[in-house]
Amino acid sequence: MVWTSRPVRRLAGSINAPGDKSCSHRALIFGGLASGTSRFTGLLEGDDVIRTGRAMAALGAGVTNTGPGAWEVTGVGARGLTSPRGVLDFGNSGTGSRLMMGVMAGFDLTAELCGDTSLSSRPMNRVLNPLRQMGMRDTAGKEGRLPFALTGSSALNEIYYKPPQASAQVKSAVLLAGLNAVGTTTVLEAKATRDHTERMLQGFGVKLGFATRPGSGETEISIAGKQPLFALDAAIPGDPSSAAFLIAAGILSPQGDVMVQGVMSNPTRSGFYDVANLMGAHLGAEERGEAAGERLIDLHAGYAGLKGIAVPERLVASMIDEFPILAVLAAFAQGETRVTGADELRVKESDRIKAIVAMLRVNGVSVEETEDGFTVQGCAGPVPGGGLVATHHDHRIAMSALVMGTAAQKPVSVDDVSMIDTSYPEFLDHMKTLGAEISEG
Ligand code: S3P
Repeated sequence: MVWTSRPVRRLAGSINAPGDKSCSHRALIFGGLASGTSRFTGLLEGDDVIRTGRAMAALGAGVTNTGPGAWEVTGVGARGLTSPRGVLDFGNSGTGSRLMMGVMAGFDLTAELCGDTSLSSRPMNRVLNPLRQMGMRDTAGKEGRLPFALTGSSALNEIYYKPPQASAQVKSAVLLAGLNAVGTTTVLEAKATRDHTERMLQGFGVKLGFATRPGSGETEISIAGKQPLFALDAAIPGDPSSAAFLIAAGILSPQGDVMVQGVMSNPTRSGFYDVANLMGAHLGAEERGEAAGERLIDLHAGYAGLKGIAVPERLVASMIDEFPILAVLAAFAQGETRVTGADELRVKESDRIKAIVAMLRVNGVSVEETEDGFTVQGCAGPVPGGGLVATHHDHRIAMSALVMGTAAQKPVSVDDVSMIDTSYPEFLDHMKTLGAEISEG
């Protein structure tokens, strides 16, 4: 179903950031492993996270929704996870499926896993290879694509693993398998990726070791196997990746005045905000306390004329989900914006390099695709617009295109909005609250 976003003069207002997707998955998973009952507030109730909750329930945890964003999770504790009856369907979620593969690897169980068309085309060998080395078995074959079955073991071997990709999902899957392995498992991270697994596991009482290799910037993260987790009460911090859409809308709006409250401020997630400021956004930030061991801030964005830049490669991992919306900012900026070192975008919910390039081109923006990124020639003001964007079932492409439409010369349409529910079910409501005109047709 086609939806269209029409240009408006003013986007203004204050929005509470939705719960962070990465932290919400982890809260349900770790709560489900712990002994005792954990209570979470502000949990993201997007489809991806709900499916992780269902998977944990199918494996033996008690997962109950007690109010809007409020969830109680009674963990299996020493009993451990057990084989589920039905197939575990992870829908669109790379995070849910890959983290859960790592978790299940460490228990004596067999499970069948599947996902939607997008997830079934994404590479799983990046997680299966280290887990196979630890002793997990699976039916995925060489291709390593869902659907397949896996058989875990409570006698997994420890491993020392250096992931070939900068991926928090791979790091997390190996550490979570290590949590129930024999001996101590270590992941050597060449480039820092989001560290929510490490932070939140410690909140559940798990001990981790960290050692930075002098000179190289590489970090070893170690976890001793067979450690218990203890239930936790936590508020889920706001999602900087979802907030990025509202902040971008505030920057592009001719009379923009947008506040997003309670956003997690974590250096492994803040690249988009650093780049927006480098382009001239002048974002405001005010301390807002803490949630689940993460710092919170209120963020403010008003209209700013932006300048194109070469995005520093060192920031790529910390803004890996924000390139679609960064591309929209680049399209309005003056001059060229160049993204390199971002080949991981090829294996997200869609081939995001191709999807971003097509999104901009169909709206009259000049952009070149490269192997590991893209180069945008900014319009130095409102982009022409008027295009119908193919979302390829990618929520972040859909939301980016709709934000572009709020400030373009002509309306911007997308072929589908239903998949926005996977990560940000309140997106359309929040945009309307700010004054956006987004409707079916
Ligand atoms: C996530 C890690 C990232 C990110 C995804 C969430 C996580 O994927 O794109 O949206 O919660 O660990 P990679 O680690 O594969 O880059």
